[in-house]
Amino acid sequence: LKIAVLVSGSGSNLQVMIDAMQNGSLPIEIVGVISNREDAYAVVRAKTAGIHVSVLSHTTSGKRMSIATFEKHALEQLNTWQPDLVVLAGFMRVLSAEFIHAVPCPMINLHPSLLPDYKGLDTHHRVLRAGEAYHGCSVHLVVPELDAGQVLTQAWLAICSDETAESLALRVQKLEHQLVPFTLELIIKGVLNLATIQAGQTEGFVPLPYR
Ligand code: GRF
Repeated sequence: LKIAVLVSGSGSNLQVMIDAMQNGSLPIEIVGVISNREDAYAVVRAKTAGIHVSVLSHTTSGKRMSIATFEKHALEQLNTWQPDLVVLAGFMRVLSAEFIHAVPCPMINLHPSLLPDYKGLDTHHRVLRAGEAYHGCSVHLVVPELDAGQVLTQAWLAICSDETAESLALRVQKLEHQLVPFTLELIIKGVLNLATIQAGQTEGFVPLPYR
């Protein structure tokens, strides 16, 4: 499976995919990484692994590259790399509907909540403030509406009594590092067929253990 990964941050989930590629635990090839931040540690991880990295970030003027310019260059890269799958792993810009439709393969996103609950940012604080008993992470198909695409897989945890947003973030991150390769494995085995799900398939394997 040829994968392109979009990142903005530390890239710990990218690292999990790099490790799986290098140790052969998953038959994947990371054909390229796109970062919208030049200072993202994910860029270092990709370069260290010898993966092509495209940094599409603000220029010397210090101005933020417009989303239209970012998307134009990102699309050129994706069309060159020809991935089978695009993974958003800690990618922190909202993408336009035009871009999402133009991407030449399915695109999935990793989100730190049990979707459809807690879309958007700052999920750990919000979950704690609401007094939830459970939290977790989801991998879902990317659609123009933020964090609203079909959920493909989830991993969950029970919130402890002395939990903080920081402890939750760490626990959820550990889950993410298992959920990402698990999801890729389901895609590779054909258990999750993204093309048919995108086409509106109404059955799937979405574990919702707490509902
Ligand atoms: C993860 O928590 C993911 O759910 C969110 O951004 C974070 C990425 O972490 N979308 P990393 O860059 O992979 O370390």
